[in-house]
Amino acid sequence: IFAHVVRAPEDPILGVTVAYNKDPSPVKLNCGVGAYRTEDGKPLVLNVVRRAEQKLVNDMSRNKEYLPIVGLADFNKSSAKLIFGADSPVIQENRVTTVQCLSGTGSLRVGGEFLAKHYHQRTIYLPQPTWGNHPKVFTMAGLSIKPYRYYLPATRGLDFQGLLEDLGSAPSGAIVLLHACAHNPTGVDPSPQQWEQIRQLIRSKSLLPFFDSAYQGFASGSLDEDAQAVRMFAADGGELFVGQSYAKNMGLYAERVGALSIVCKTADVASKVESQLKLVIRPMYSSPPIHGASIVATILNDRDLYNDWTIELKGMADRIIRMRQQLFDALRARGTPGDWSHIIKQIGMFTFTGLNPEQVSFMTKEYHIYLTSDGRISMAGLNSKTVPHLADAIHAAVTR
Ligand code: LMR
Repeated sequence: IFAHVVRAPEDPILGVTVAYNKDPSPVKLNCGVGAYRTEDGKPLVLNVVRRAEQKLVNDMSRNKEYLPIVGLADFNKSSAKLIFGADSPVIQENRVTTVQCLSGTGSLRVGGEFLAKHYHQRTIYLPQPTWGNHPKVFTMAGLSIKPYRYYLPATRGLDFQGLLEDLGSAPSGAIVLLHACAHNPTGVDPSPQQWEQIRQLIRSKSLLPFFDSAYQGFASGSLDEDAQAVRMFAADGGELFVGQSYAKNMGLYAERVGALSIVCKTADVASKVESQLKLVIRPMYSSPPIHGASIVATILNDRDLYNDWTIELKGMADRIIRMRQQLFDALRARGTPGDWSHIIKQIGMFTFTGLNPEQVSFMTKEYHIYLTSDGRISMAGLNSKTVPHLADAIHAAVTR
């Protein structure tokens, strides 16, 4: 009865890892998925995560009972503090509801379904380009998607004028997806002044901001600095949504731990919204898993662990910045045609190289280097030993 089912294509991002895993070449390099690797090319379990897990294992009072539908209370409270700041009025006035979700993706999906059910506007504007999963998540949630201009290939920078025009002509009330920091895939963020202009436009048109915060701490190395855009919107008293992920900043990829926060006008509205979020979550996966959230809550609520986390986080962010410089220098040394300064200007995990799909497939075929076909390179997948190989491949691709 399923003979008619056609084979689906691999996911454009996760499928890169599938192809990489099948390649027997000893020089193969995975710069596809945004996952941090050490200088030895190995996945990293943060020291603070190991210490938190040890603490949890030793605590015999813990059990594996179901969590509430909205997740671990301590985790939710600390996640809100992390993104909004402990003294934020939205927290002091109980105007935010925060629910534990399955990492960033799950937070976006739960938020999207809530909006499809309870909000008068069904259109969400996504930056062009955006993370490849965004259109699918929000379409499946029941929203219709529209693009807004974000990136200008000619300057490899922000298309600020295009962004203002497109959001300026969006219908009143439309939802706008914003990357809180370290825009994926471009690595291009608005400046604080530009954020302020975006905020004014969004509020004046009564658009609804929905932040995707997947890289807090990864853009600048500072958790507070990377939350500035979200906090700017939270400070003006208006509504907003934010999905948080701990995949990258705590290296908890497979634990699927994240949070959705919805800031409302009053505490009463926030508690009613939370009651409806439960109705979205219960038939979807009932309640979230406990382990990852307990790790995060342990780290966020222990002063020593928290401080050590910020140091490890800065270490990861700095290593990525070093990789940017090394790749830039390696291309310069090879005399590779073109201006590659965007490699050091862009921020976060990715460089949006400007390589086209044909050049990408050449690099994969001839150099066993795996990246997404839009030319995005995960800088976190590089190390000093692999930079020359990547530079050789880019050089060959653009001079062929
Ligand atoms: C990425 O963009 O590579 C990451 O966010 C991983 C993913 O799930 O796509």
